[in-house]
Amino acid sequence: MPVYQATASAPVNIACIKYWGKRDTKLILPTNSSLSVTLDQDNLRATTTSRADPKFEQDQLWLNGKVDEIKPGGRLATCIAEMKKLRAQVESGSPNEPKLAEFKLHISSFNNFPTAAGLASSAAGFAALVASLAALYQLPTSPSELSRIARQGSGSACRSLFGGFVAWEKGTAADGSDSLAVEVAPREHWPDIHALICVVSDDKKGTSSTTGMQRTVETSTLLEHRIKHVVPERMRAISEAIKARDFDTFARITMQDSNQFHSVALDTDPPIFYLNDVSRAIIALIIEYNRVSVEAGGKLKAAYTYDAGPNAVIYTLKENVKEIVSLIVKYFPQTDGFKDTFGLFGSTGVGEG
Ligand code: PMV
Repeated sequence: MPVYQATASAPVNIACIKYWGKRDTKLILPTNSSLSVTLDQDNLRATTTSRADPKFEQDQLWLNGKVDEIKPGGRLATCIAEMKKLRAQVESGSPNEPKLAEFKLHISSFNNFPTAAGLASSAAGFAALVASLAALYQLPTSPSELSRIARQGSGSACRSLFGGFVAWEKGTAADGSDSLAVEVAPREHWPDIHALICVVSDDKKGTSSTTGMQRTVETSTLLEHRIKHVVPERMRAISEAIKARDFDTFARITMQDSNQFHSVALDTDPPIFYLNDVSRAIIALIIEYNRVSVEAGGKLKAAYTYDAGPNAVIYTLKENVKEIVSLIVKYFPQTDGFKDTFGLFGSTGVGEG
């Protein structure tokens, strides 16, 4: 009896232009396009093994070794159903193919980064799930096509199907067929860019991205301005900056967009605060670091960005990593390794294999 099993892994991605707001909550269609960098260090990945077997009685998932529920009609069930649909199409065209789409699945997924790091693990998780099912089912699909399915698990997951610099184009079709991730540049294009992840707090965030986005869409007037008048131009400009390896422009837009995302969160009723005092102190440190560089006739050397939580990600070029790490350690000394309230998680080289 052959074994039908496949394993795939996918990394975390950190957005420079933030996705915030859904125009369709079931299909997970965003109100604006977004752009991210996929981190490629081995210690920030989800790895998923999927197995299909006629003896299995139900689809089942283990997350970090513990059974996790697959809620009927939920996001996980939707992704699995979409992948089975694609496999069924392959089988209907070739009668000799094993009927894998009819077998139940056992899926096991592990994150190799501590949950304590406070990083959104769902992006890597859903991307790895979809990639492992694509391998199991031997689907002739491109990463962009798979991103359409991963998107329905967690919006930002669609961007983790590519390495390097990735845009999620919001699309216009009501069925979501053109709401896909596309590559802006491969990671080899700009190997010098690094991401430093600073764990400010590993507390579970107060407002989930799903709840937060919904409330922002319903109550923020600033969001409309952002969607219509800000993001389209930023998407264009940052893509160009990436193509030209122009760190100064990349950094400026990344910080502006993080600021505007958190402004939109604050403009929500009731307001959402994701940053804390340490997050703001890191912003001040990076601003000062850049000011010294610019006043000496240089350019911006670092960019901070924050997702729906207080942890900082600092983008910089390889030549500045040491200096920034020593500044962070000096101003935010850690006493208890990574478990402290402020831990420097690591320096992630984007582009270093
Ligand atoms: O995909 P979600 O639902 O986890 O939302 C991600 C939202 C942000 O991380 C704040 C922004 C982004 O584009 O990743």
